[in-house]
Amino acid sequence: MKFTYYGHACFSVEVQGKILLFDPFISPNELAKDIDVNSIKADYILLSHGHGDHVADALTIAQNNDATIISNYEIVNWYGQKQGYAKGHPMNHGGSWKFDFGKVKYVNAVHSSVLPDGTYGGNAGGFVIESTEGNFYYSGDTALTMDMKLIPLFTQLDFAVLCIGDNFTMDIKEAVIASDFIQCNQIIGVHYDTFGFIKIDHEAAKATFSEKNKSLLLLNIGETVDLRVEA
Ligand code: NI
Ligand code: MN
Repeated sequence: MKFTYYGHACFSVEVQGKILLFDPFISPNELAKDIDVNSIKADYILLSHGHGDHVADALTIAQNNDATIISNYEIVNWYGQKQGYAKGHPMNHGGSWKFDFGKVKYVNAVHSSVLPDGTYGGNAGGFVIESTEGNFYYSGDTALTMDMKLIPLFTQLDFAVLCIGDNFTMDIKEAVIASDFIQCNQIIGVHYDTFGFIKIDHEAAKATFSEKNKSLLLLNIGETVDLRVEA
């Protein structure tokens, strides 16, 4: 599966020929200034919660690509009623839906959620994606939570995208525990370095994972990797 990192907690994964873009926050991100938002392709845009550092460029990219926004009910509704963009698929915690690329389950995250204009953004969540090409989990912004232990009961993960930057979310040590809870050893870190509060030591972070025989990928902004998954 082709995985591209766009900085902060924004990334895309190509699944069954469809491009899934997560949490686009590019134009306000100084570290991602070399990324042209208008060049980004997406068939679906998945939003974990309503905070600006996850939705900033969602409308622009959705309009550019006629993409479907997948998020919780409140956020999809906000795009439909307040942003004039009605192509969305609303979900809520614990629910799944089969799309043309595979199945999405919206799962718990422990975090807050408000949209940029102050509208209530529902409960923050994460996503579990299952497809014939592989399965992965994106935690969204969250604390370490026991709810993560539910994920391997229904999905065997090939990789997971976890927030690791501390202050607003779990930190690296807790992300290692999260990787145990979800029974996954291939982790891609997000939500670090963008702001002063979440700067991390990359080598120390990778070492914390490798001590537990797990891998932590910290990609360069704009970098694409082909994630090999077990057949
Ligand atoms: Ni947030
Ligand atoms: Mn955030």
